[in-house]
Amino acid sequence: MAIARNSLRTRRPIVGVALVALAVCGLAGSAAAQSTVERGSYLVNSILACGNCHTPKTPAGKPITGKHLAGGLAFNTPGFSATASNITQDRDTGIGAWSDAEIKRSLTEGVRPNHGRLANAPLAAVMPISFFKPLLPRDLDAVVAYLRTVQPVHHDTPAPEYRMPVHHDPYPEAEKGFTEAMMADPVKRGAYLVTVGHCMECHSPFEKGRSDYSRLGKGGRTFSPSLVTGFPGAWKGSVARNITSHPRSGIGAWTDAEIKRAITKGISRDGRKLQAPMAFDYYDRMTTTDLDAIVAYLRTVPPLE
Ligand code: HEC
Ligand code: HEC
Repeated sequence: MAIARNSLRTRRPIVGVALVALAVCGLAGSAAAQSTVERGSYLVNSILACGNCHTPKTPAGKPITGKHLAGGLAFNTPGFSATASNITQDRDTGIGAWSDAEIKRSLTEGVRPNHGRLANAPLAAVMPISFFKPLLPRDLDAVVAYLRTVQPVHHDTPAPEYRMPVHHDPYPEAEKGFTEAMMADPVKRGAYLVTVGHCMECHSPFEKGRSDYSRLGKGGRTFSPSLVTGFPGAWKGSVARNITSHPRSGIGAWTDAEIKRAITKGISRDGRKLQAPMAFDYYDRMTTTDLDAIVAYLRTVPPLE
């Protein structure tokens, strides 16, 4: 459009404008075509799967229309009881009155602002802040920009109760951090996505209230209806699997297509239907580039029996 209008006014600059447009597309690829809000929507509704915890679900397990991010699952552990908050733009019961900096701080440091209904209260361990910490600045901006567009819903969620000091286990890959330049390398891009998607929080052993990332991807963490409320009544609980590159215990012998089908359709190699809490419907929205990157990274996770 801009080029067309320009060409009506003057004839000479059009070649220059076209060249600049080409150069921009060539350098930044699809990222240039995607606006900040679109990028945020993509991240929140696919790999980050915020709604898997923060959106209430129907008895069939589908997100309730009109309640997007309005407060969802309730967690009850020995250390705390907490409900995934209303993170819509409602000013009283959501995060509409928080500044951009306050939202970013809550996502990456787990600290609430010094105003509002739960002023200064920390975020319970279940909110995956150790995994959101290394979000690239561009992606963190995009997440906040998207959250600003979420329709406000007035819905109060119960206040959390902490029975022990709030603790977030650091995740080694997140502590090392990521750069934009790494995103061109499929394995590093996959490591970034698996980190911010907190895959290994579920897929690594969890004992005595602590995650053991020295046995990355070995599986074993169990989820039960007594621990999490908000999944369909038919949900009986599940155990996270070994997703290391081990040829028998893990997914080392699976084809790329089998791994992708498990992640996005919730179907295991043998055809078995996989259960919650993994966010298959969200992961199903990922681009082929991102899914391929996740598979490339998983192939590098050291094998464990
Ligand atoms: C595994 C479940 C889970 C996922 C995934 C998750 N959250 Fe949370 N989140 C929670 C829980 C539970 C709380 C409340 C913790 C508490 O009260 O101590 C929370 C709290 C928050 C808060 C504080 C709001 C307030 O007023 O209490 C914000 C902001 C937030 N989450 C944003 C996000 C965003 C954005 C994403 C995705 C990038 C996300 N969360 C993903 C479980 C989750
Ligand atoms: C909230 C916890 C949780 C998160 C986050 C999670 N998973 Fe899972 N995942 C599980 C559970 C539990 C199962 C087993 C479900 C069952 O057996 O019904 C599973 C199953 C799988 C399987 C199938 C394994 C098999 O043997 O059938 C793969 C592959 C997998 N997850 C990969 C991933 C990847 C990659 C990510 C991140 C993008 C991820 N998971 C995020 C909990 C989680």
